[in-house]
Amino acid sequence: MMYSEKVLDHFTNPRNVGELPDANGVGEVGNAKCGDIMRMYLKIEGDVITDVKFKTFGCGAAIATSSMATEMVKGRTIQEALQLSNKAVMEALDGLPPVKVHCSVLAEQAVRAALADYYRRQGIDPEPIVGKIQEPDHDHGEGDSCPSCG
Ligand code: FES
Repeated sequence: MMYSEKVLDHFTNPRNVGELPDANGVGEVGNAKCGDIMRMYLKIEGDVITDVKFKTFGCGAAIATSSMATEMVKGRTIQEALQLSNKAVMEALDGLPPVKVHCSVLAEQAVRAALADYYRRQGIDPEPIVGKIQEPDHDHGEGDSCPSCG
């Protein structure tokens, strides 16, 4: 599998790793198939994302895409962050192998989940603004009854 130099750079030296204690938007998403989890912290002032941090428990591509995604939304407005697509993140990294495209989707969804949380904290229904978010994978056995899985 071939990774671009940018992917390797962001994987070995990820930007904006950690937590933001004063974040006002926190989102977590997971991929049910690989089990990887990404958490995104946003500090939003006015409508500008003034700070961002992330934690990713996942593959190298997940770490690289979340690192790049944080760089692409930092200092931007909410509207600009909402337009961030996984494709744009991949392009900024000079591409990903096809089997790793879903990792970039996780990064896009993590930003959206954090923005959704920001709206929810203000009593605003985020779905018309942010769209549907992939729910994080949650732990339970196959046969267990679960209210969210139906
Ligand atoms: Fe799951 Fe990359 S393999 S996020």
